[in-house]
Amino acid sequence: MELKHIYKHGRNPERPVLLLLHGTGGNEEDLMPLARMIDPEAAILSVRGNVEENGMPRFFKRLREGVFDHEDLAKRTDELYEFIQEAAKQYEFNLGQVTAIGYSNGANIAANLLFRHGPVLKNAILHHPMVPDADALIPEVKELPVWIGAGANDPICPPEQTEELDRKLQEAGAEVKVNWYQAGHQLTQEEAKDAAVWYGAP
Ligand code: MLT
Repeated sequence: MELKHIYKHGRNPERPVLLLLHGTGGNEEDLMPLARMIDPEAAILSVRGNVEENGMPRFFKRLREGVFDHEDLAKRTDELYEFIQEAAKQYEFNLGQVTAIGYSNGANIAANLLFRHGPVLKNAILHHPMVPDADALIPEVKELPVWIGAGANDPICPPEQTEELDRKLQEAGAEVKVNWYQAGHQLTQEEAKDAAVWYGAP
């Protein structure tokens, strides 16, 4: 499965690869500055979503705002996982050393990677995610660290969605840390800095 992407080798091959997943209407360049804040030495695999909504790239189809096409979500999540496996071979990184960093639609597909495939990520930083699939039975993701940034006034990802995602991931065994911001859907500098502190790259 080929997906449009950028791969940058890291200065330190010991560090996990940062898998970057943009929001609706974004592209593979968007989260580069964020990745550099989180770990300036890590390799980066930044992917462009292969679904278009009125010309805006996304990672999966939706029926309308906040209502997802579950069949497409499952298919695209599996494609993304297949792509990561192929990229690990091509760029010679360890599949057990992948940190997902997603914003909005990208955070939703990152969460769904865990929902469908279990502990296939080393950890995840999810900026303004929703519950990707309310009916999913999530495989165990024992002690997998997940950081969530959420806006108390986010009209796209309402607080109940954050709380529900937190609950579901914890039930599956994840170690979840949620940071709340007096903000809407935007990813602020403050939030990016907090994610970097939590990640704790040397
Ligand atoms: C989604 O469709 O994944 C969410 O509603 C967030 C977004 O607008 O991308």
